[in-house]
Amino acid sequence: MSALILLGKPVAEKMLQDLKKDVKELDPKLVVVQVGDDPSSDSYIRQKLKSCEAVDMRNEHRHLDKKTTLKQLLSVIDELNKDPDVTGFIVQVPLPGDLNDHVPEITRAINPKKDVDGFGAYNLGKMFLSKEFEHLPPATPAGIFEMLKYYEIDVAGKHSVVVGRSNIVGKPLAVMLINRGATVTVCHSRTDDLAFYTTQADLLFTAVGKPKLITKEMVKPGAVVVDIGVSRTDKGLKGDVDFENVKEVASAITPVPGGVGPLTVASLIRNCVTAKKRQISVDTVILK
Ligand SMILES: NC(=O)c1ccc[n+]([C@@H]2O[C@H](COP(=O)([O-])OP(=O)(O)OC[C@H]3O[C@@H](n4cnc5c(N)ncnc54)[C@H](OP(=O)(O)O)[C@@H]3O)[C@@H](O)[C@H]2O)c1
Repeated sequence: MSALILLGKPVAEKMLQDLKKDVKELDPKLVVVQVGDDPSSDSYIRQKLKSCEAVDMRNEHRHLDKKTTLKQLLSVIDELNKDPDVTGFIVQVPLPGDLNDHVPEITRAINPKKDVDGFGAYNLGKMFLSKEFEHLPPATPAGIFEMLKYYEIDVAGKHSVVVGRSNIVGKPLAVMLINRGATVTVCHSRTDDLAFYTTQADLLFTAVGKPKLITKEMVKPGAVVVDIGVSRTDKGLKGDVDFENVKEVASAITPVPGGVGPLTVASLIRNCVTAKKRQISVDTVILK
């Protein structure tokens, strides 16, 4: 058996195409704040701004010096929170030096209405309630559900195993799977005998950042495998899954690169449009 390859590009293109009308009508603006010159960040930001251009969405790249202090960054965030012309903004991570230790404080400083990464407690908390409250969900899990919908893969009643428990990928993905009726097991670095769990997965999601962590023997025949991990190696970008061998047992699998990545970006753009809709709707009286 050779698996169906779940390509992200056609899904992302459809998502962006569907957003164009709203962008034209609502005219939202996304600001991407970058501190320093991390090469991976440069590349991610380029993709984000390119997708803004693809839907004709206004965008700004606020590029700050690597010596920017926490106080200076919080002051930029305060300015963006107050600027009525800015619909949403993100602070690209990782941040240079000691600033990276302050990510929780920086995330907290972003107005939840403009938190289009969906990383703040308010938006994560709402997502906990039910699918209907996933207003500004974290972009990567949200993109994964767009992909599953596009390829007509249902999660309800299926056993989903999520490897990784970060606050921006693994944990929200697990909650969003529960919101859609999946039975969920979450594994992480302290999990004893990872293969015991992964071999029971109808759907296996992996967000770790360790190439070839998931081998063919760890995958149930016929499983759907979604590889979120991205590692830079001397052979290029690699996911967590031994793609060449696992595709022989899985029924469907995402490649790296070209799988989940484009959907993360498209979901961010969609969150910016949703943020604008909510900012101009009466519903926003409940937002703090
Ligand atoms: N494609 C995309 O658009 C996209 C978006 C975001 C992230 N990513 C990629 O996804 C990966 C995860 O990102 P993240 O931000 O969630 O990273 P993270 O915060 O470093 O989390 C990694 C998770 O993997 C777990 N882990 C580490 N070693 C493990 C092992 N041997 N077995 C099982 N679990 C293990 C860790 O467990 P503990 O909690 O116990 O430490 C942690 O929960 C990275 O490669 C990142 O580049 C891709």
